[in-house]
Amino acid sequence: MVSSTGSKKIRAAVFISGNGSNFKSLIKFSNLKKSPIVISLVISNNLNSKGLKYAKIFKIKKKVFDFKKKKLTEKKILFELKRNKISIILLAGFMRILSKNFIDNFDGKILNIHPSLLPKYKGLNTHKRAIRNREKFSGCTVHFVNAKLDSGKIILQKRVIINKKDTPNTLAKKILIQEHKLYPRAIMKIFNP
Ligand code: GRF
Repeated sequence: MVSSTGSKKIRAAVFISGNGSNFKSLIKFSNLKKSPIVISLVISNNLNSKGLKYAKIFKIKKKVFDFKKKKLTEKKILFELKRNKISIILLAGFMRILSKNFIDNFDGKILNIHPSLLPKYKGLNTHKRAIRNREKFSGCTVHFVNAKLDSGKIILQKRVIINKKDTPNTLAKKILIQEHKLYPRAIMKIFNP
């Protein structure tokens, strides 16, 4: 696969657990000529991830790992990544925490998208907590992954206004729309030749 500049595209794996709307938007982006990446593999910890349907639709190789034995699972995933010549990992709604050992194998090559304006609201239930604290804004962040949860270097953020009527659900929807734009922009920023 060759990008618009004529250079070879970077082979990426996307890790998902749920709906996979970011996965879908990343596939669409990667299919553009200007994209520096090609998505060659999707990995999920959950066989019932709705997002896995996009693997079928867009003909992307998929692998599911149950993560019951984390150390062994990560070993298997690293093998799979190597076999598919993957050089970057894009976490997109992936609900498992990767070990330091795993992350060290892809140092500076793992990105994540998080639905808050980090460093605020790391972890789960970000929208509920932001509304409860009467925040005026929330948003999303694309960042590098390090061994500390949601704490790696920030690449890009997008702010979203919280209205008085917003519920965690409506806010999540508004932020997701921005996530789908932000992740591709962050990839362009980091990996564009
Ligand atoms: C997104 O809000 C993402 O930021 C968070 O989990 C959600 C995943 O949504 N980490 P989807 O599976 O991409 O639709």
